[in-house]
Amino acid sequence: MDHYAVFGNPIAHSLSPDIHTQFAQLTGHTLSYTRILVAPGELQKALTDFAESGGRGANITVPFKTEALQLCTRATPLAIEAGACNCISFHASEWVADCTDGLGLVYDLTQQLQLSLAQKRILIVGCGGATRGIIGPLLAEHPTEIVLINRTMQKAEQLAESFQSHGTLSACPWHTVLFSEFDFIIHATSLGHTGQLPDLPPTTLSPTTWVYDLSYGKAAEPFLQWAITAGARHYTDGLGMLVAQAAFSFERWRGIMPPVKPVLAAMRNR
Ligand SMILES: NC(=O)c1ccc[n+]([C@@H]2O[C@H](COP(=O)([O-])OP(=O)(O)OC[C@H]3O[C@@H](n4cnc5c(N)ncnc54)[C@H](OP(=O)(O)O)[C@@H]3O)[C@@H](O)[C@H]2O)c1
Repeated sequence: MDHYAVFGNPIAHSLSPDIHTQFAQLTGHTLSYTRILVAPGELQKALTDFAESGGRGANITVPFKTEALQLCTRATPLAIEAGACNCISFHASEWVADCTDGLGLVYDLTQQLQLSLAQKRILIVGCGGATRGIIGPLLAEHPTEIVLINRTMQKAEQLAESFQSHGTLSACPWHTVLFSEFDFIIHATSLGHTGQLPDLPPTTLSPTTWVYDLSYGKAAEPFLQWAITAGARHYTDGLGMLVAQAAFSFERWRGIMPPVKPVLAAMRNR
């Protein structure tokens, strides 16, 4: 049997084992998928032990996505531009790093929700690791522009600079977006995990704006509640992105794209 695992700290909350177990059942593949808690400074040893004991692939989550990229012998263009890795394929002679987060978000928006990003204005609130991973795949959908705002303005400017050749992308001071309406608002801060939300005025959205929170479950509630109160009619959390990024990992490891829709429905009904 082939073995896979998700590595992180904390890790008990991870839905990845349930998602991959359902993918395996739906595609008729036989595999095991476990959670591995990694102590700080122990990622290399944990991955090496796993690979040497026959592990075929790993998902990487907080806080190891950047470190994991450095440990791999090869990286895909997506992982290089994201500066992070959430998916490793172990081969006899190499460890290949990939980043499927952005593909997962775009899949959820365009395939699950049936939305087009072409010629749309997108505001991304927050410029951490997740945002670095989603900008490339979002720009590949040819939006009119992506505007980045972040508490630490310098990080937004650095991101805009690194993706300059990929499309129209700018970093703005927080207050300059106050009276600008967007087709999509993507919330990508970690504030929801502590029950907080960024200070964004309702003037940034119109009734047609799609509001997407990368977080899911309780962590998505504060921002989505703000959006509903501000008049948003279209909104969702990031559970679809989570399931879809897992599907792209599964595809890389097993050579087949598993069905996302039934697994997302099952995860929503848990
Ligand atoms: N659905 C999925 O598959 C998926 C995948 C990846 C991530 N996510 C979610 O995406 C979110 C971001 O993850 P990440 O990995 O990018 O986190 P991260 O690298 O830690 O970045 C955190 C972001 O939140 C901002 N922030 C933190 N505290 C703040 C505060 N008090 N006020 C204003 N801004 C604050 C940070 O701003 P500064 O730069 O100023 O510190 C930064 O932009 C998380 O909720 C995570 O769960 C979901």
